[in-house]
Amino acid sequence: MRLLIWTYNGTSQAKTRKTMGTTVKAKDGAPRKARRAAQLSSRHLLGLEGMPAEDIQLILETAVPFKEILERPIKKVPPLRGMTVVNLFYEPSTRTRISFELAEKRLSADVVSFTTSSSSVQKGETLKDTIKNIEAMKTDVVVIRHSFPGAAHYLTTCCSSIVINAGDGAHEHPTQGLLDIYTLWEKFGSLKGRTILIVGDIAHSRVARSNIFGLVTLGATVRVCGPPTLIPVDVDKLGVEVFYDLDQALAGVDAINVLRIQKERQSGALLPSLREYTLLFGLNRERLRRAGPDVVVMHPGPMNRGVEITPEVADGPQSVILSQVTNGLAVRMAVLYLLCGGGKKVNRR
Ligand code: CP
Repeated sequence: MRLLIWTYNGTSQAKTRKTMGTTVKAKDGAPRKARRAAQLSSRHLLGLEGMPAEDIQLILETAVPFKEILERPIKKVPPLRGMTVVNLFYEPSTRTRISFELAEKRLSADVVSFTTSSSSVQKGETLKDTIKNIEAMKTDVVVIRHSFPGAAHYLTTCCSSIVINAGDGAHEHPTQGLLDIYTLWEKFGSLKGRTILIVGDIAHSRVARSNIFGLVTLGATVRVCGPPTLIPVDVDKLGVEVFYDLDQALAGVDAINVLRIQKERQSGALLPSLREYTLLFGLNRERLRRAGPDVVVMHPGPMNRGVEITPEVADGPQSVILSQVTNGLAVRMAVLYLLCGGGKKVNRR
């Protein structure tokens, strides 16, 4: 079954998207280039650094019909039937692990979930031996979260499965970046000319890095803001504007992505106190009022309520935090669907 078909009405005016039997107009009504095939340019999803804008756009648009499926009474479709996906989580996770697992099940894959606490990692087995043994059971896709930056890339060198990075240390969290971008795209359409502020612990945040790479590629203006100890040296070389004063950074933004302080990745005392951080960099009602009533508030989760964001802002009318979680499921379905062939027969090895 072809779940999503790109069509190009080449002789005439309109370029349209045909999804699951329904022909819908392109999101912003804008003409789009014809696509030769609805496929990504890479076999794995390791990060958004260097990902072409066309790939990001394809994932966003593929996620639209998957989001519609989530509203159906029966939320299951068959494109991954016969494929086996292993979720290899070496780090704690609530959203990403459950979201991937649901995405896989809703695409009809067979799913195996692995956590280190109940595996032979406890007996000293290496990552390489672990994946080689799992793959010997004829699995097709591995989704990995690991504290080691580069762990997902390393897997591509020692196994033949399709590899999806679900967060590797402070390096990248590409599906979080994509779901954040999807949430903004759903609100604004094109991100060209939009200004997105990422505030918090930029230095230890894989979410910040994936957002920066993806948003800059799509033409958004990206600002980062936080205490100097939590802003990486040379971050401006990624094409972002750097602020150390939140009130200045907030002027003129369309969206604010608030990050938590990643205590688990900090090696020394980088902040005088959490109280001081909250006073200087916490997003509260007054700051949001000054930023404007249409400014969108995002947070990848998990939140430290009362530290980087007040509960009234997190739960307020400008917050899209739970929409991000819903969108994450649709985006992960799109990523899995496209990497696994997008309805086409592909050579998976
Ligand atoms: N946003 C995110 O990665 O959350 P989890 O750590 O709960 O997966």
